[in-house]
Amino acid sequence: MTRAKVVVLGATGFVGRNVRDRLALDGHEVHGLSRTGGCDLLDLPAAWRQIEHLRPDYIVNCAAFVGSVNFVSDFAADVVDVNMRMLLNTYKIAQQMREAVLINPIANCGFPGGLDVYREGDLWDGPLDPSVKSYGATRRMIDVLADCYRRQYGVRSANLFVPNMYGPYDSHNPNKTHALNALVIKFVTAAKSGAEEVEIWGTGRPVREWLYVKDLARLVSRVVSEGGFNGEPVSVAQNHGLSVDEIAALIAERVGFKGRLRRNTSYGDGSPRKVMDDTLFRGRFPDFTFTPMDQGLEETVAYYRGTIA
Ligand SMILES: NC(=O)c1ccc[n+]([C@@H]2O[C@H](COP(=O)([O-])OP(=O)(O)OC[C@H]3O[C@@H](n4cnc5c(N)ncnc54)[C@H](OP(=O)(O)O)[C@@H]3O)[C@@H](O)[C@H]2O)c1
Repeated sequence: MTRAKVVVLGATGFVGRNVRDRLALDGHEVHGLSRTGGCDLLDLPAAWRQIEHLRPDYIVNCAAFVGSVNFVSDFAADVVDVNMRMLLNTYKIAQQMREAVLINPIANCGFPGGLDVYREGDLWDGPLDPSVKSYGATRRMIDVLADCYRRQYGVRSANLFVPNMYGPYDSHNPNKTHALNALVIKFVTAAKSGAEEVEIWGTGRPVREWLYVKDLARLVSRVVSEGGFNGEPVSVAQNHGLSVDEIAALIAERVGFKGRLRRNTSYGDGSPRKVMDDTLFRGRFPDFTFTPMDQGLEETVAYYRGTIA
C-alpha cells in the first residue's frame, strides 16, 4: 500500500466525513477542508491559498451545495449557480496541481431520468428527470470538466458514479437529509416518542439502489492506496434496488415501530426506478464486497439513535 497525501473537500459533510475517517484509518495523510473551515470554493484565490502548500497526491471532491429532491427544486437556480462555480474553481485548482488525481463521487441523478438501469456510457443518452434537473445537470458537467481538463491540461480525474447513500454523519435538517437516513431519523424519533404515524414523502413506490456510505469511503481509500485508476468512469454498482416502501418496512421492524405509514403524495417521486449496472465495477474491483443491507441498517439506526434526544 502507498501512503498518500489526500485533501478531502467537503470534509464536514455526510460523504466527506466518512471518506476522511476511512482514509485516516488506512494510514493516509488526510487534510479535511470545507467552507466553514475557511476553504470556500466559491472564492478561488482563498481556496487556492488553503490547498496550494499541501501539494496533495489526491483531491477527493465531496464539496457540494445539495439536499433532498425538494431542496434542489426549491433552490434550483442557487443549486446550479453555486455548484457550477465550485466545480469550475475545483478544476482550476486541479489544473495548477497536475500531479494530483481528482476523485469525484458523482451522484447518479446525472443519468437520464427515463432509464431503468444506468450504464456508465449512457450518461448523456436522454434528458434528466425534471425533479433533479438543477443538480443533475451540474453532475453531468463533472464528466465534461474531467474530459476537457484531461485533454488540454493533463488533469487526471477518477469519476465514480454513486447511487443513493445512507449511513452516519448526515444532516438532521429534513430538507438536507438523504432519503434513507431521513426515514431512519423519522422512525427512530417516532419510536422514541411513541408516535403512531410516520410520514413518507411520495408514493413509496420508487425503486432505488442504496449504498452504505462506508463502502464508498472504503472504495475511495482503496483507489488511493492502490495508487492508480485508469481514468474511465465506473459506477459503484450492485445492480440491485429496493423500493422506499420496502426500505421503510425494514427500518420500522429494526426500530420496533408498530404504527401507521402516511404517504404525503404532494412530494414527487422522481424517476420510478434507478439501478446501476455493475459489469464494469465487477471487472475493475472483482473482490470488493458490499456491506449487507441488514448490517448497514443496523449500524445506521444505532448511530441516529445515539444522535436523537
Ligand atoms: N449523499 C448521497 O447519497 C450521495 C450519493 C451520491 C453522490 N454524492 C455526492 O457526494 C458529494 C457530497 O455530498 P454530501 O451528501 O456529503 O453533501 P453534504 O453533506 O451537504 O456536504 C457538503 C459539503 O460541501 C461543503 N461545501 C458546501 N459549500 C461549499 C463551498 N462553497 N466551499 C467549500 N465547501 C463547501 C460543506 O462544507 P460546510 O459544512 O463547511 O458548509 C460540506 O462539507 C456530492 O458531490 C454528492 O453529489 C452523495
